[in-house]
Amino acid sequence: KPRVVSGVQPSADSLHLGNYVGALRNWVSMQDDNDCVFFVADLHSITAGQDPATMAERTRVTAAQYIAAGIDPERSTLLIQSQVPEHTQLAWVLNCITGYGEAARMTQFKDKSLKQGADNTTVGLFTYPVLMAADILIYQANQVPVGEDQRQHLELTRNLAQRFNARFGETFVVPDARILTNSAKVYDLQNPTAKMSKSAASENGLIRLLDPAKKNAKKIKSAVTDDGNVIRFDRAAQPGIANLLTIYSSLTGEPIESIVEQFEGKMYGHLKVGLAEVVTDTLDPIQQRAQQLLDDPAELDRLLARGAEKAREVTGETLKAVYDRMGFLPGV
Ligand code: TYM
Repeated sequence: KPRVVSGVQPSADSLHLGNYVGALRNWVSMQDDNDCVFFVADLHSITAGQDPATMAERTRVTAAQYIAAGIDPERSTLLIQSQVPEHTQLAWVLNCITGYGEAARMTQFKDKSLKQGADNTTVGLFTYPVLMAADILIYQANQVPVGEDQRQHLELTRNLAQRFNARFGETFVVPDARILTNSAKVYDLQNPTAKMSKSAASENGLIRLLDPAKKNAKKIKSAVTDDGNVIRFDRAAQPGIANLLTIYSSLTGEPIESIVEQFEGKMYGHLKVGLAEVVTDTLDPIQQRAQQLLDDPAELDRLLARGAEKAREVTGETLKAVYDRMGFLPGV
Protein backbone atom coordinates (compact mmCIF):
# COMPACT_ATOMS: atom_id res chain seq x y z
CA LYS A 1 0.00 0.00 0.00
CA PRO A 2 1.24 3.53 -0.71
CA ARG A 3 2.42 5.36 2.37
CA VAL A 4 0.71 8.63 3.27
CA VAL A 5 2.19 11.07 5.80
CA SER A 6 0.87 14.35 7.17
CA GLY A 7 0.70 16.47 10.30
CA VAL A 8 -0.71 19.62 11.84
CA GLN A 9 0.82 21.87 14.45
CA PRO A 10 -0.93 21.75 17.82
CA SER A 11 -2.66 25.00 18.66
CA ALA A 12 -3.64 26.39 21.97
CA ASP A 13 -7.29 25.55 22.02
CA SER A 14 -8.44 24.01 18.80
CA LEU A 15 -7.63 23.41 15.16
CA HIS A 16 -9.44 25.65 12.70
CA LEU A 17 -11.68 25.02 9.74
CA GLY A 18 -8.77 25.56 7.31
CA ASN A 19 -6.86 22.68 8.90
CA TYR A 20 -9.96 20.53 8.75
CA VAL A 21 -11.04 21.24 5.18
CA GLY A 22 -7.53 21.57 3.73
CA ALA A 23 -5.97 18.61 5.51
CA LEU A 24 -7.66 16.52 8.22
CA ARG A 25 -10.88 15.79 6.34
CA ASN A 26 -8.94 14.44 3.37
CA TRP A 27 -6.83 12.19 5.55
CA VAL A 28 -9.84 10.27 6.77
CA SER A 29 -10.79 8.79 3.39
CA MET A 30 -7.18 7.99 2.55
CA GLN A 31 -7.04 5.43 5.35
CA ASP A 32 -8.84 2.82 3.25
CA ASP A 33 -6.28 2.39 0.51
CA ASN A 34 -3.07 3.63 2.06
CA ASP A 35 -0.70 2.97 4.89
CA CYS A 36 -1.21 6.24 6.76
CA VAL A 37 0.97 8.02 9.28
CA PHE A 38 -0.46 11.11 10.96
CA PHE A 39 1.35 13.05 13.62
CA VAL A 40 1.03 16.11 15.81
CA ALA A 41 3.84 18.48 14.82
CA ASP A 42 4.67 19.67 18.33
CA LEU A 43 8.33 20.30 17.48
CA HIS A 44 7.26 22.63 14.70
CA SER A 45 5.09 24.60 17.06
CA ILE A 46 8.03 25.72 19.21
CA THR A 47 9.47 27.71 16.31
CA ALA A 48 7.03 30.39 17.41
CA GLY A 49 7.95 30.08 21.09
CA GLN A 50 6.07 27.91 23.56
CA ASP A 51 4.40 27.83 26.90
CA PRO A 52 5.53 24.74 28.85
CA ALA A 53 2.39 24.87 30.96
CA THR A 54 0.06 24.26 28.02
CA MET A 55 2.26 22.22 25.67
CA ALA A 56 1.15 18.74 26.78
CA GLU A 57 -2.49 19.70 26.87
CA ARG A 58 -2.64 21.24 23.42
CA THR A 59 -0.80 18.25 22.01
CA ARG A 60 -3.49 15.98 23.50
CA VAL A 61 -6.29 18.24 22.31
CA THR A 62 -4.90 18.11 18.79
CA ALA A 63 -4.51 14.33 18.79
CA ALA A 64 -8.05 14.03 20.14
CA GLN A 65 -9.33 16.08 17.22
CA TYR A 66 -7.60 13.76 14.74
CA ILE A 67 -9.36 10.75 16.21
CA ALA A 68 -12.65 12.60 16.61
CA ALA A 69 -12.52 13.63 12.95
CA GLY A 70 -12.15 9.99 11.92
CA ILE A 71 -8.50 9.00 12.11
CA ASP A 72 -8.49 5.43 13.34
CA PRO A 73 -5.43 4.77 15.52
CA GLU A 74 -5.72 1.05 14.79
CA ARG A 75 -5.65 1.35 11.01
CA SER A 76 -3.33 4.35 10.84
CA THR A 77 -0.22 5.21 12.80
CA LEU A 78 -0.94 8.18 15.04
CA LEU A 79 1.95 9.74 16.88
CA ILE A 80 3.46 12.80 18.47
CA GLN A 81 6.48 14.10 16.55
CA SER A 82 8.63 14.67 19.65
CA GLN A 83 8.11 11.05 20.74
CA VAL A 84 9.84 9.69 17.64
CA PRO A 85 13.43 11.01 17.80
CA GLU A 86 14.37 9.93 14.27
CA HIS A 87 12.44 12.92 12.88
CA THR A 88 14.96 15.32 14.40
CA GLN A 89 17.94 13.06 13.74
CA LEU A 90 17.15 12.98 10.05
CA ALA A 91 16.45 16.73 10.08
CA TRP A 92 20.06 17.37 11.05
CA VAL A 93 21.36 15.32 8.14
CA LEU A 94 19.03 17.13 5.75
CA ASN A 95 20.10 20.51 7.16
CA CYS A 96 23.56 19.64 5.96
CA ILE A 97 22.46 19.13 2.36
CA THR A 98 20.14 22.16 2.24
CA GLY A 99 21.53 25.34 0.71
CA TYR A 100 21.31 28.48 2.79
CA GLY A 101 19.81 30.38 -0.13
CA GLU A 102 17.42 27.54 -0.83
CA ALA A 103 16.04 27.76 2.72
CA ALA A 104 15.98 31.55 2.60
CA ARG A 105 13.65 31.41 -0.42
CA MET A 106 10.82 29.77 1.52
CA THR A 107 7.98 32.29 1.39
CA GLN A 108 6.44 31.16 4.69
CA PHE A 109 9.75 31.86 6.43
CA LYS A 110 9.97 35.26 4.77
CA ASP A 111 6.41 36.15 5.83
CA LYS A 112 6.73 34.90 9.38
CA SER A 113 10.18 36.35 10.03
CA LEU A 114 9.00 39.69 8.72
CA LYS A 115 6.11 39.57 11.17
CA GLN A 116 8.28 38.52 14.10
CA GLY A 117 11.14 40.93 13.39
CA ALA A 118 14.82 40.02 13.00
CA ASP A 119 15.51 39.90 16.75
CA ASN A 120 12.71 37.43 17.41
CA THR A 121 13.25 35.20 14.40
CA THR A 122 14.96 31.95 15.38
CA VAL A 123 17.16 29.57 13.45
CA GLY A 124 14.42 27.04 14.24
CA LEU A 125 11.94 29.00 12.15
CA PHE A 126 14.48 29.16 9.35
CA THR A 127 15.09 25.42 9.31
CA TYR A 128 11.44 24.48 9.92
CA PRO A 129 10.85 23.26 6.32
CA VAL A 130 13.85 20.94 6.65
CA LEU A 131 12.32 19.31 9.73
CA MET A 132 9.13 18.97 7.71
CA ALA A 133 11.08 17.24 4.94
CA ALA A 134 12.50 14.87 7.55
CA ASP A 135 8.98 14.13 8.87
CA ILE A 136 8.03 12.97 5.40
CA LEU A 137 11.19 11.24 4.19
CA ILE A 138 11.77 9.27 7.41
CA TYR A 139 8.59 7.29 6.56
CA GLN A 140 9.40 6.87 2.84
CA ALA A 141 6.09 8.58 2.09
CA ASN A 142 4.55 8.37 -1.35
CA GLN A 143 1.90 11.02 -0.82
CA VAL A 144 1.53 14.02 1.44
CA PRO A 145 -1.98 15.49 1.72
CA VAL A 146 -1.68 19.18 2.65
CA GLY A 147 -3.25 22.53 1.89
CA GLU A 148 -1.99 24.89 -0.77
CA ASP A 149 0.20 26.86 1.67
CA GLN A 150 2.53 23.86 2.08
CA ARG A 151 3.26 23.40 -1.63
CA GLN A 152 6.68 25.06 -1.55
CA HIS A 153 7.77 22.98 1.46
CA LEU A 154 6.80 19.83 -0.42
CA GLU A 155 8.87 20.96 -3.39
CA LEU A 156 11.87 21.41 -1.08
CA THR A 157 11.25 17.94 0.36
CA ARG A 158 11.31 16.41 -3.12
CA ASN A 159 14.52 18.26 -3.97
CA LEU A 160 16.23 17.08 -0.79
CA ALA A 161 15.20 13.48 -1.41
CA GLN A 162 16.51 13.58 -4.96
CA ARG A 163 19.73 15.28 -3.89
CA PHE A 164 20.41 12.75 -1.15
CA ASN A 165 19.70 9.86 -3.50
CA ALA A 166 22.02 11.29 -6.14
CA ARG A 167 24.87 11.90 -3.69
CA PHE A 168 24.69 8.85 -1.48
CA GLY A 169 22.69 6.28 -3.42
CA GLU A 170 18.99 5.48 -3.72
CA THR A 171 17.61 5.87 -0.20
CA PHE A 172 14.43 7.91 -0.16
CA VAL A 173 11.10 7.66 -1.92
CA VAL A 174 10.45 11.01 -3.63
CA PRO A 175 6.99 11.98 -2.34
CA ASP A 176 4.16 13.68 -4.21
CA ALA A 177 2.11 16.51 -2.76
CA ARG A 178 -1.59 15.79 -2.71
CA ILE A 179 -3.30 19.14 -2.76
CA LEU A 180 -7.02 19.06 -3.43
CA THR A 181 -7.61 22.08 -5.60
CA ASN A 182 -11.21 22.72 -4.59
CA SER A 183 -10.60 22.82 -0.85
CA ALA A 184 -6.92 23.57 -0.53
CA LYS A 185 -7.43 27.05 0.77
CA VAL A 186 -10.03 28.27 3.22
CA TYR A 187 -10.02 32.03 3.59
CA ASP A 188 -10.44 34.30 6.59
CA LEU A 189 -14.13 35.16 7.07
CA GLN A 190 -13.28 38.80 7.75
CA ASN A 191 -10.64 39.10 5.08
CA PRO A 192 -11.55 36.65 2.31
CA THR A 193 -8.39 37.17 0.29
CA ALA A 194 -6.11 36.00 3.15
CA LYS A 195 -5.94 32.36 4.27
CA MET A 196 -7.71 31.37 7.46
CA SER A 197 -4.96 31.14 10.03
CA LYS A 198 -4.60 31.05 13.78
CA SER A 199 -2.50 34.19 13.61
CA ALA A 200 -5.22 36.06 11.72
CA ALA A 201 -5.74 39.74 12.37
CA SER A 202 -9.33 39.33 13.50
CA GLU A 203 -10.63 36.69 15.86
CA ASN A 204 -13.91 36.76 13.94
CA GLY A 205 -12.26 35.50 10.78
CA LEU A 206 -11.50 32.11 12.31
CA ILE A 207 -13.78 29.10 12.90
CA ARG A 208 -12.40 26.76 15.55
CA LEU A 209 -13.42 23.12 15.46
CA LEU A 210 -14.02 23.01 19.21
CA ASP A 211 -15.78 26.34 19.68
CA PRO A 212 -19.49 26.35 20.64
CA ALA A 213 -21.87 26.16 17.67
CA LYS A 214 -23.41 29.52 18.55
CA LYS A 215 -20.10 31.31 18.50
CA ASN A 216 -19.23 29.81 15.11
CA ALA A 217 -22.67 30.60 13.68
CA LYS A 218 -22.31 34.21 14.76
CA LYS A 219 -18.97 34.50 13.00
CA ILE A 220 -20.36 32.98 9.81
CA LYS A 221 -23.30 35.37 9.88
CA SER A 222 -20.95 38.34 10.18
CA ALA A 223 -18.60 37.10 7.44
CA VAL A 224 -17.51 39.85 5.06
CA THR A 225 -19.22 39.68 1.67
CA ASP A 226 -19.37 42.08 -1.25
CA ASP A 227 -22.12 44.63 -1.97
CA GLY A 228 -23.83 42.54 -4.64
CA ASN A 229 -26.78 40.30 -4.01
CA VAL A 230 -26.39 37.38 -6.39
CA ILE A 231 -25.02 34.13 -5.02
CA ARG A 232 -22.50 32.83 -7.53
CA PHE A 233 -18.98 31.50 -7.53
CA ASP A 234 -16.65 34.27 -8.64
CA ARG A 235 -13.40 34.23 -6.69
CA ALA A 236 -12.15 37.55 -8.09
CA ALA A 237 -15.32 39.64 -7.83
CA GLN A 238 -16.99 37.95 -4.84
CA PRO A 239 -14.25 36.37 -2.70
CA GLY A 240 -16.38 36.28 0.46
CA ILE A 241 -19.22 34.37 -1.19
CA ALA A 242 -16.75 32.13 -3.01
CA ASN A 243 -15.19 31.21 0.34
CA LEU A 244 -18.57 30.40 1.93
CA LEU A 245 -19.50 28.27 -1.09
CA THR A 246 -16.17 26.42 -0.96
CA ILE A 247 -16.57 25.60 2.72
CA TYR A 248 -20.20 24.53 2.18
CA SER A 249 -19.19 22.30 -0.69
CA SER A 250 -16.25 20.65 1.07
CA LEU A 251 -18.26 19.89 4.18
CA THR A 252 -21.32 18.49 2.39
CA GLY A 253 -19.60 16.94 -0.60
CA GLU A 254 -22.08 18.71 -2.90
CA PRO A 255 -20.60 20.34 -6.00
CA ILE A 256 -20.51 24.14 -5.88
CA GLU A 257 -22.86 24.46 -8.91
CA SER A 258 -25.61 22.55 -7.17
CA ILE A 259 -25.29 24.72 -4.05
CA VAL A 260 -25.49 27.84 -6.22
CA GLU A 261 -28.63 26.39 -7.81
CA GLN A 262 -30.13 25.62 -4.43
CA PHE A 263 -29.67 29.25 -3.33
CA GLU A 264 -30.81 30.80 -6.59
CA GLY A 265 -32.83 33.96 -5.96
CA LYS A 266 -32.00 33.86 -2.25
CA MET A 267 -30.01 36.40 -0.29
CA TYR A 268 -26.52 36.22 1.17
CA GLY A 269 -28.07 35.82 4.62
CA HIS A 270 -29.72 32.57 3.55
CA LEU A 271 -26.41 31.11 2.45
CA LYS A 272 -24.86 32.11 5.77
CA VAL A 273 -27.65 30.49 7.79
CA GLY A 274 -27.37 27.35 5.67
CA LEU A 275 -23.61 27.22 6.10
CA ALA A 276 -23.85 27.76 9.86
CA GLU A 277 -26.08 24.67 10.02
CA VAL A 278 -23.70 22.62 7.91
CA VAL A 279 -20.76 23.65 10.11
CA THR A 280 -22.69 22.81 13.28
CA ASP A 281 -23.73 19.41 11.93
CA THR A 282 -20.13 18.64 11.01
CA LEU A 283 -18.56 19.84 14.24
CA ASP A 284 -21.08 18.57 16.80
CA PRO A 285 -20.04 14.91 16.63
CA ILE A 286 -16.35 15.86 16.45
CA GLN A 287 -16.69 17.94 19.60
CA GLN A 288 -18.48 15.19 21.48
CA ARG A 289 -15.98 12.53 20.55
CA ALA A 290 -13.01 14.80 21.32
CA GLN A 291 -14.43 15.52 24.75
CA GLN A 292 -14.82 11.82 25.50
CA LEU A 293 -11.19 11.21 24.58
CA LEU A 294 -9.99 14.14 26.67
CA ASP A 295 -11.94 12.86 29.66
CA ASP A 296 -9.46 9.97 29.83
CA PRO A 297 -6.03 11.51 29.15
CA ALA A 298 -4.14 8.49 30.48
CA GLU A 299 -5.77 6.24 27.87
CA LEU A 300 -5.10 8.80 25.15
CA ASP A 301 -1.43 8.98 26.19
CA ARG A 302 -1.16 5.19 26.08
CA LEU A 303 -2.63 5.13 22.63
CA LEU A 304 -0.14 7.75 21.42
CA ALA A 305 2.77 5.88 22.99
CA ARG A 306 1.72 2.78 21.04
CA GLY A 307 1.62 4.88 17.86
CA ALA A 308 5.16 6.13 18.48
CA GLU A 309 6.36 2.58 19.04
CA LYS A 310 4.78 1.44 15.78
CA ALA A 311 6.31 4.41 13.96
CA ARG A 312 9.80 3.67 15.21
CA GLU A 313 9.84 0.33 13.44
CA VAL A 314 9.92 2.31 10.20
CA THR A 315 11.89 5.38 11.25
CA GLY A 316 14.70 3.37 12.83
CA GLU A 317 15.26 1.52 9.59
CA THR A 318 15.32 4.65 7.46
CA LEU A 319 17.75 6.39 9.77
CA LYS A 320 20.02 3.37 9.80
CA ALA A 321 20.08 3.29 6.00
CA VAL A 322 20.87 7.02 5.91
CA TYR A 323 23.73 6.71 8.38
CA ASP A 324 25.12 3.69 6.53
CA ARG A 325 25.06 5.51 3.19
CA MET A 326 26.81 8.50 4.72
CA GLY A 327 29.54 6.34 6.15
CA PHE A 328 29.08 6.94 9.85
CA LEU A 329 30.74 4.47 12.17
CA PRO A 330 28.11 1.79 12.80
CA GLY A 331 26.59 1.85 16.28
CA VAL A 332 26.15 -1.08 18.57
P1 TYM B 1 -0.22 23.83 9.73
O1 TYM B 1 -0.28 23.31 11.12
O2 TYM B 1 -0.02 25.29 9.53
O3 TYM B 1 -1.49 23.41 8.94
C1 TYM B 1 -1.88 22.05 8.91
C2 TYM B 1 -2.57 21.69 7.62
O4 TYM B 1 -3.69 22.54 7.40
C3 TYM B 1 -3.59 23.15 6.13
N1 TYM B 1 -4.13 24.51 6.21
C4 TYM B 1 -5.08 24.98 5.40
N2 TYM B 1 -5.74 24.42 4.37
C5 TYM B 1 -6.67 25.17 3.75
N3 TYM B 1 -6.96 26.44 4.11
C6 TYM B 1 -6.33 27.04 5.13
N4 TYM B 1 -6.66 28.28 5.49
C7 TYM B 1 -5.34 26.30 5.83
N5 TYM B 1 -4.53 26.58 6.89
C8 TYM B 1 -3.81 25.46 7.11
C9 TYM B 1 -2.09 23.18 5.81
O5 TYM B 1 -1.86 23.25 4.44
C10 TYM B 1 -1.65 21.86 6.40
O6 TYM B 1 -1.88 20.80 5.51
N6 TYM B 1 4.40 22.54 8.46
C11 TYM B 1 3.03 22.05 8.57
C12 TYM B 1 2.91 20.85 9.47
C13 TYM B 1 3.81 19.76 9.12
C14 TYM B 1 3.62 18.80 8.09
C15 TYM B 1 4.76 17.96 8.15
C16 TYM B 1 2.63 18.57 7.14
C17 TYM B 1 4.98 19.48 9.74
N7 TYM B 1 5.54 18.40 9.15
C18 TYM B 1 4.91 16.88 7.26
C19 TYM B 1 2.80 17.50 6.27
C20 TYM B 1 3.91 16.68 6.32
C21 TYM B 1 2.19 23.15 9.15
O7 TYM B 1 2.66 24.00 9.86
O8 TYM B 1 0.88 23.03 8.89
